[in-house]
Amino acid sequence: MAAAAAAAALTPATPLRFKPYSTLRFLSFYSKNPITPRLFPPLPRRPVHFQSTFHRKRCFCSVISAALQSGEVKKTEFREKKVDEMGNKVGEFRKKVKIADIKGGPDEGLNRVGQTLVVMGWVRTFRAQSSVTFLEVNDGSSLSNMQCVMNSDAEGYDQVESGLVSTGASIWVQGTLVASQGSKQKVELKVEKVVLVGKSDPSYPIQKKRVSREFLRTKAHLRPRTNTFGAVARVRNALAYSTHKFFQENGFVWISSPIITASDCEGAGEQFCVTTLIPSSREAADSPVNAIPNTKDGLIDWSQDFFGKPAFLTVSGQLNAETYATALTDVYTFGPTFRAENSNTSRHLAEFWMIEPELAFADLNDDMACATAYLQYVVRHVLDNCKEDMEFFNTWIEKGVIDRLNDVAEKDFVQLTYTDAIELLLKANKNFEFPVKWGCDLQSEHERYITEKAFNGCPVIEIKAFYMRENDDGRTVGAMDMLVPRVGELIGGSQREERLDYLENRLDELKLSKESYWWYLDLRRYGSVPHAGFGLGFERLVQFATGVENIRDVIPFPRTPGSAEF
Ligand code: 4AD
Ligand code: MG
Repeated sequence: MAAAAAAAALTPATPLRFKPYSTLRFLSFYSKNPITPRLFPPLPRRPVHFQSTFHRKRCFCSVISAALQSGEVKKTEFREKKVDEMGNKVGEFRKKVKIADIKGGPDEGLNRVGQTLVVMGWVRTFRAQSSVTFLEVNDGSSLSNMQCVMNSDAEGYDQVESGLVSTGASIWVQGTLVASQGSKQKVELKVEKVVLVGKSDPSYPIQKKRVSREFLRTKAHLRPRTNTFGAVARVRNALAYSTHKFFQENGFVWISSPIITASDCEGAGEQFCVTTLIPSSREAADSPVNAIPNTKDGLIDWSQDFFGKPAFLTVSGQLNAETYATALTDVYTFGPTFRAENSNTSRHLAEFWMIEPELAFADLNDDMACATAYLQYVVRHVLDNCKEDMEFFNTWIEKGVIDRLNDVAEKDFVQLTYTDAIELLLKANKNFEFPVKWGCDLQSEHERYITEKAFNGCPVIEIKAFYMRENDDGRTVGAMDMLVPRVGELIGGSQREERLDYLENRLDELKLSKESYWWYLDLRRYGSVPHAGFGLGFERLVQFATGVENIRDVIPFPRTPGSAEF
């Protein structure tokens, strides 16, 4: 009886149970109006009879999703039957042929001369001469545009003639690839057909004349359509890809560290609070202050908050990475981190991405060796794979950036103790804004002096957070910063304190609660192991690799004090 009752309870109330999310998410790939014809023809050789099967496919998605929920029919049987009876299979995914694929090879496209090709992109410039019209089209795959040459017999030319195909518009063009008459490119597209996909209002703010980077920050949604920001996005992508590649090739496991946390890894009190005690965005404008619950003593009553205690956006994934390093040996995180520091500088963001490797059975020397190998690897990757963009940066952003990166990839890095660094600064005979003495934190001007004037990228020892292992001299801790030209501190890392008693003392000294770090202390209680790691600010790496001066220009949507637009 009990079993029958349980079975009855588990049987769906109705044979078809819709799970709205799975169905809706799938449907969202399709237009709301199923009979809208496509604006432009499908890619050549794509055997998708899109219009005729459109409506049926949509029904099929809903029905199959609902029926699979009900568990009535065996999945494979159902699939075969329904595909025969009422719908087509989802079309095969094919990589688009982009401008980079056409022009990116060693002969810059000459091997494709004579082919009929389709280019889809945005009009960068438009030049009409008496008998021909030149359109420069860019699809973001490369710095190079596709020069499209057209005369009045091209299908759709009326849209060009009437001015609808203007700078900023999106278009679909089909034509034959021919050797170019011009000196700027090897090939161009002789257009047979042009379709306007989306016209551009005359107010389009990114016209051909050069615009300042400050202005473009106010147009962060359109700036990726410029040469500089397109190139930055591609190099940023190459750096992210090679970051994963480096760690994966070296046996590291990628860990997602939490974005919401109750601990402050850096202990600097620069965290953004995450709370539901303050009403959510829609109600925030007219909510009274006294709506925030408080205790008898007039303090905020955090026990009523979402997590039952104060919670914050993470400043670093390190503590969580340490837990996985003491199980999987070598791990790394790569994710967003947040700091509410009020630094309006060209190297600080409130939201930035950090890469944090953590190595078990390792000391500070292993840490520095890993940081050096990593940096050399990603720099080499960018030099090898982003040639066109790097040439662009070399010409327009920082003359000599390619040589600088080549040096980094090939030359040895310099190691310098903190004490030697201070000595070097004292001897520098330079009036620093922040005076130098042993024990001071190195400021950006000191870091840049060391790396730019004295050496080319050198780690120094810095005293900061509680987790750094105390050296036997009792004076310094096993920590390092990697300083690089133009940026200053790119990496901060240390050997972690693996001895329980030392760590407990350090927490006491810093007046941090041992109770809230119980799990972190547990790592020292159960199979503790010497370990070390570092954190690298990903945007600073992009600055370093491209020569772009301001950190706000190397992240798509910068968050800085007073600015969270877009
Ligand atoms: O030196 P930091 O504060 O070190 C840590 O957070 C350690 N927990 C990392 C670790 O050992 N796992 O930060 C690491 C790096 C800095 O060297 C810098 O490159 C970058 O993060 N960084 C910032 N980048 C942009 N904007 C900010 N506000 C940054 N603060 C730090
Ligand atoms: Mg640091």
